[in-house]
Amino acid sequence: MSEAKADPKRVLLIISGGIAAYKSLELIRLLRRQGVGVRCVMTKAAEQFVTPLSVSALSEDKVYTDLFSLTDEAEMGHIQLSRSADLLVVAPATADILARMANGNANDIATTVLLATDKPVMAAPAMNVRMWTHAATRANIATLQQRGVEMIGPVEGDMACGEFGFGRMSEPAEIAAAVMARLDTPGTQKAAQTGPLAGRSAIVTSGPTHEPIDPVRYIANRSSGRQGHAIAEALARAGAQVTLVAGPTRLADPVGVETVHVETAQQMLDACLAALPADIAVCAAAVADWRVSGKAEQKLKKDSGALPTLTLAENPDILATLSRQGPTRPRLVVGFAAETEAVLEHAIAKRKRKGCDWILANDVSEGTGTFGGDNNRIHFIDQNGHDDWPESTKAEVAQNLARKIAEHFAKDSS
Ligand code: C5P
Repeated sequence: MSEAKADPKRVLLIISGGIAAYKSLELIRLLRRQGVGVRCVMTKAAEQFVTPLSVSALSEDKVYTDLFSLTDEAEMGHIQLSRSADLLVVAPATADILARMANGNANDIATTVLLATDKPVMAAPAMNVRMWTHAATRANIATLQQRGVEMIGPVEGDMACGEFGFGRMSEPAEIAAAVMARLDTPGTQKAAQTGPLAGRSAIVTSGPTHEPIDPVRYIANRSSGRQGHAIAEALARAGAQVTLVAGPTRLADPVGVETVHVETAQQMLDACLAALPADIAVCAAAVADWRVSGKAEQKLKKDSGALPTLTLAENPDILATLSRQGPTRPRLVVGFAAETEAVLEHAIAKRKRKGCDWILANDVSEGTGTFGGDNNRIHFIDQNGHDDWPESTKAEVAQNLARKIAEHFAKDSS
């Protein structure tokens, strides 16, 4: 009996006008090679960088460049165009198109299609580092992410303008892997074959832990789990096989990741040990330092006459335990250090104390909005020193970390 063949997936690629537009040609090629149908829309500015003819030749389809084309509207209206694909991908996404998307403009075919679509949207930003860090762009990115637009990159590197920093578009292979993961939800199997972390396994801890006082009460903290979940997803997109050990959060399980749900620190440790061996461990969870020893089997009654006394016991340190696993120690163990003062000093000491390889330190003092918020400002620490990352969203931190991990393993095996 022959198996029914799934319909090929279709991407609508929107190319906006940046120097990185030439990389979109390679992106089209990579997606086509994986059997994905690619139809392209180009902005007027994009035509300054690549020709519709080359885009059409590679995509083997008509290219849409004009909102007011009678022929295009007769063949396929722009509303239908916006819905004819499974996924819309904006690459490169310039500061300008991101601003227009955030604003809801519909002043050319690209933004009209983006406003009219009912399909998921991904964007691969590409711009000068100062444009990327400008408050206007930061706000536009945050708005778009809140609306569910998924950002791929940008990455740090040399730029066409001669500067260095964040803003360089992710490489086509990385974008293709992210697109395939999004199209091919179960297991990100394609990325697992072609991504930079293909063949690697990772354990990620995320979220708070809840330490029961009695059957209805518990000790907890304000961690949302957003950073850890984003890291699990970014590693999976890079091709790693990821086990996410998640404390209680309101977040959906990330795509393409095996998620183990736990409540307490002890359960989190047990789940991590059960997931060994692994190449990578990233401990992003805000594990409760203490649990209540001898938790009450029945609900403590407030009318019992006396105030309850809680006796605390120290929880196991998951990061330190994984770092000292002997032969089953993951080759790369990464921890976080949430500090409210002397961030660097404390984090450098913590790296040594816990025995991990890298620490991502962040300031969670009042007013920073890091806990539960969208953004994070990271000081990256390894045995050679530290590197200050610019303030960015948690998704961006996750992508940077996944890229750094991939580079680490690429160097290690060369
Ligand atoms: O000691 P502190 O909580 O500041 O350390 C933070 C780092 O250690 C984070 O990476 C966190 O996930 C990890 N940690 C852990 N188990 C604990 C406490 C912290 O894995 N019990």
